[in-house]
Amino acid sequence: MKKIISVVGARPNFMKVAPINRAIQNFLRDHSDFPLIHKICHTGQHYDSDMSDVFFKDLELPEPDFYLGVGSGSHAVQTARIMIEFEKILISEKPDLVIVVGDVNSTIACSLTAVKLGIKVAHVEAGLRSFDRTMPEEINRILTDAISDYLFVSEESGVKNLKREGIPDEKIFFVGNVMIDSLISYLPKVERSEILGFFSLKPSQYGVVTLHRPSNVDSKERLKQIIDLLVDISEYKRIVFPIHPRTAQNLEKYDLLKFLNHNIIATKPLGYIDFIALIKNSAFVLTDSGGIQEETTYLGIPCITLRNSTERPVTVEIGTNVLSGEDITVAFKYIMEILNGNFKNGKIPELWDGKASERIVKILIEKLFE
Ligand code: UD1
Repeated sequence: MKKIISVVGARPNFMKVAPINRAIQNFLRDHSDFPLIHKICHTGQHYDSDMSDVFFKDLELPEPDFYLGVGSGSHAVQTARIMIEFEKILISEKPDLVIVVGDVNSTIACSLTAVKLGIKVAHVEAGLRSFDRTMPEEINRILTDAISDYLFVSEESGVKNLKREGIPDEKIFFVGNVMIDSLISYLPKVERSEILGFFSLKPSQYGVVTLHRPSNVDSKERLKQIIDLLVDISEYKRIVFPIHPRTAQNLEKYDLLKFLNHNIIATKPLGYIDFIALIKNSAFVLTDSGGIQEETTYLGIPCITLRNSTERPVTVEIGTNVLSGEDITVAFKYIMEILNGNFKNGKIPELWDGKASERIVKILIEKLFE
């Protein structure tokens, strides 16, 4: 009997592990008595019900087999707590393989713990690089890739980056994008979402904003600049602004909530189905997220990314994404282009076809039983 443990920790992990879990369960249903067990471990990096529980429900993820309950803390505290707790699980469960996804602190913490115990690690969404080492995620990506055994890549740039870093070819698998697997499989449910009616919105008559990067929300000056930008945009279109806990805390701390006007709908973080329904019907998205750059590219929705760099260059090269950098006048100019119908059209990147998880599971099963 072989055992796999998949790790989830923070919000952007759930929609990546859900399709992998489903692909494993489908494989086991088609191959009765196959000697494989799959378990899920939630580190508890994100713990609010609207940052975690709602995703389990929306994505039909089973209750995690292990919950580490580590919560928030400095990077060192959070990463260290995850390692201490995850090591106990690995010692008692003795899995043959650990699957980690994305670039959050749970990703590096669990991969490092596993390799030190001689357990193989698969990294899903490997090879992405922003080339900005001030981003905590960039450090997590580089380190996780350096120690993983199987690297599953979502876009061509990832293959090039890994090769440049000296990762041997036989560890690299270009399989496509598991987050897009989730998006595709939930589109019928998204069509039934009632979120537009809930906020009294009409398709294409509003924009969506999400912000949570430390570089955008941790300093008062920067956050105020972005709020000013939202106020300017709201003269032309309504804005829906689901607010991440980190951003909510800072808006409160710096007393900036008072600047939001009636054309800006500030709301708590939304669940997966409602959020995808919101962006799918929007005129544009303004964000500093990683994953949303990919979801908008798949859906053909214009996306302005409030960052200087992206680890997902395919979304800029062939998708609907543009980087506006730090200058908020650039972001405003792009919004005006969109509203005037002068924005680029995008295409869907190679292998973003809803089958990435199946490819990953096939490869992993071959490797585990070879
Ligand atoms: C983390 C990831 C980031 C990812 C983001 C998505 C790292 C380094 N960062 O950033 O890559 O894009 O998740 O959301 O792993 N908080 C709550 N409730 C929660 C979770 C967090 O109130 O359920 C608050 C806490 O005060 C915490 C702060 O938000 O200190 C930040 O949480 P943290 O997990 O440290 O990082 P994120 O900014 O969420």
